Amino acid sequence: MPSLKMNDILLADALETTRALPDMSIDLIICDGPYNATPHEWDRVSNIQAFNFELIKAFSRILKPGGVLYLFGKPTCVDFIDYRPYLTLNSKIVWYQPSRLGQGRKSYTNNYDLICYFSKGKPGQFNLDEIRVPQLVELEHRRRCENVPSVKNGTYAKTKFNEDGKNPGDVWGDIKQLTYKSKELVSREMLNTVQKPEKLMERLVLASSQREAVVFDPFCGSGTVPVVCKRLGRNFIACDTNPTFVELASLRLAGKLLKVKVMEDKEMEDAQMEVQVQLGFW
Ligand SMILES: C[S@@+](CC[C@H](N)C(=O)[O-])C[C@H]1O[C@@H](n2cnc3c(N)ncnc32)[C@H](O)[C@@H]1O
Repeated sequence: MPSLKMNDILLADALETTRALPDMSIDLIICDGPYNATPHEWDRVSNIQAFNFELIKAFSRILKPGGVLYLFGKPTCVDFIDYRPYLTLNSKIVWYQPSRLGQGRKSYTNNYDLICYFSKGKPGQFNLDEIRVPQLVELEHRRRCENVPSVKNGTYAKTKFNEDGKNPGDVWGDIKQLTYKSKELVSREMLNTVQKPEKLMERLVLASSQREAVVFDPFCGSGTVPVVCKRLGRNFIACDTNPTFVELASLRLAGKLLKVKVMEDKEMEDAQMEVQVQLGFW
């Protein structure tokens, strides 16, 4: 296990890194690890709920009171495990992706990932003004509704139309998965299974941390969370067990990445890569 360093990407295991972190030292954890949903070696775990339970227990020790964990997964990722002694589940955010390529014929196609929003006790913050999204309804229509007596005098009287936008809610269809045309995509091989959009990670970081906060990304892949943290003035601790991804993410973070081709074997175990770095930046 390499020594822990802030604002650096480590080649290390998620649980080992977590265990090396001091008690109550982390403000926010963004955990986008195995889903147990693809044939990739890194995505395979024998029981995803048991795997996530071990993570939740370990994360609860390192989170500060009020600290937040966002745990990514498939719809069943926290089923039948009792996380309540460790963390509070505030919401299950549905990251809706209607345009998934794989279409089922025997059942309904799964069109979403879950992002479980946990906190240690009550969330210490929820920075709504940082993450507002455009209002969908026409302003005039909304104003008319607000003046109906039952609304005006009722429970929702204070939920006024906000010109700056509305709460994004818990179904997010406004952030699209990357495509092979996305400028931020670091390699085609990372499409779908690995790399997440910066906009998605940005919303989580903005909602649940302040500048100078410490964000932990235990499965950092292509380095999306570190890149977002650097841009938004947050500190981060990040690791991944795939040496190719760690090298790639470190180059991306340093702004040296120009073009990447990851050559996978069948299991993506011994991924090699060809990288062109931006000349003049070395
Ligand atoms: C879904 S990807 C993360 C993608 C990342 N959020 C991004 O935007 O690029 C999951 C990552 O977990 C890594 N991984 C799998 N098992 C691990 C472990 N035990 N410890 C650390 N990293 C692991 C894989 O190498 C993979 O990069």
